[in-house]
Amino acid sequence: METKKAHILITGANRGIGKAVAKRLAEDGAHLYLAVRQNDPELVEEMRQAGAGAVEILECDLSTREGVDALVQKLGDTRIDILFNNAGVLTGGLLEDQPLDDIYDVFQVNVAALVQLTQALLPRMLKRKKGLIINNSSISGIMYLPGASTYAASKAAVIAFTHCLKQELRNTGVQTLLLITPGVKTRMFDRISDLYGQNYKVPKGTITPEKYAEMIHEAIVEDLEELSPSGLTGAAMHVARHLPSLVERAVRFRFKR
Ligand SMILES: NC(=O)c1ccc[n+]([C@@H]2O[C@H](COP(=O)([O-])OP(=O)(O)OC[C@H]3O[C@@H](n4cnc5c(N)ncnc54)[C@H](OP(=O)(O)O)[C@@H]3O)[C@@H](O)[C@H]2O)c1
Repeated sequence: METKKAHILITGANRGIGKAVAKRLAEDGAHLYLAVRQNDPELVEEMRQAGAGAVEILECDLSTREGVDALVQKLGDTRIDILFNNAGVLTGGLLEDQPLDDIYDVFQVNVAALVQLTQALLPRMLKRKKGLIINNSSISGIMYLPGASTYAASKAAVIAFTHCLKQELRNTGVQTLLLITPGVKTRMFDRISDLYGQNYKVPKGTITPEKYAEMIHEAIVEDLEELSPSGLTGAAMHVARHLPSLVERAVRFRFKR
C-alpha cells in the first residue's frame, strides 16, 4: 500500500517498534494518529521534524474495554487507511508465579484490544474498499518456550485472528499484514531476561527498532501478507512450525525449574 500521505493509526507509538515505525512513515509525509497513554509534545515535534503531514495524539489506555471504546469515540469518523495494532505487554515466568492481574492484562492489551479496535475500524475501510490492518505478533506465537505460556498464547491468538481475517477480507480491498516479530532491542526485550531468566537461558540476538521499522515499511509498500524473520531465527521458526518436538527436545537442556 502507498504510504505517502496515508492516514495511519499506531497504538503504542511512544517508544520501541511503534515509535520507530511512526518515524519511518513520517518520512513519507504520512498523517499520523498516535495512540499513547500519555500526551507527549516532544513525540509530536519529533514526527513533524521527520516530515509527517500531520500528527495527532490520541490519549488512551487499552487495558480495558472502556479504554478502547474511548479511543474509538475520539477517532469519530476519521479516515484511517492503515491501522497498526502494535501496543503490547509482556508476561513471563513459571505460570504459578505470574500475577493473575498481569495475565488478564496480557490478553486484554495484546488480544482483546487489538480485536476490538480492528472491528471498530473495519466497516469504514470496507466502505472505502481500501485499508490495511497490521497486527504485531511474535515468534513466541509459533515457538512455544517454557516461561512464555501466557505471552505466547496471546501472540498465537493474534496469528490465528489475522489468518482468519485475511480470508474474510479477500477481494474486499482491505488487507492484513501479520508481523511475526523476532527479538527487537526495545524496553520489552530488555525485560525478557528479568521475567524468564531464572528458568531459561534467553537467546541474545536482536535487531534495532529502526532496522525493523524499515522492514515493516518495505512489507507495507510491497503488499506482503506476512513479515517473518529470516536467517537462523527464521530457520528455528520453520522447525518449530513443522517439527515442534525437535524444539522441545532442544529447549529441555536450557530450562530448569
Ligand atoms: N521487542 C521484541 O523483541 C518483540 C518481539 C516480538 C513481538 N513484539 C511485539 O511488538 C510490540 C511492540 O513492542 P516493543 O518491543 O516496541 O515494546 P515496548 O517498547 O515495551 O512498547 C510497548 C508499547 O505498548 C504500549 N502499551 C502497553 N500497554 C498499553 C496499554 N494498556 N494501553 C496503551 N498502550 C500500551 C506501551 O505504552 P507505555 O509506554 O505507556 O507503556 C508502549 O508504547 C508488542 O506487541 C510486542 O509484543 C516485540
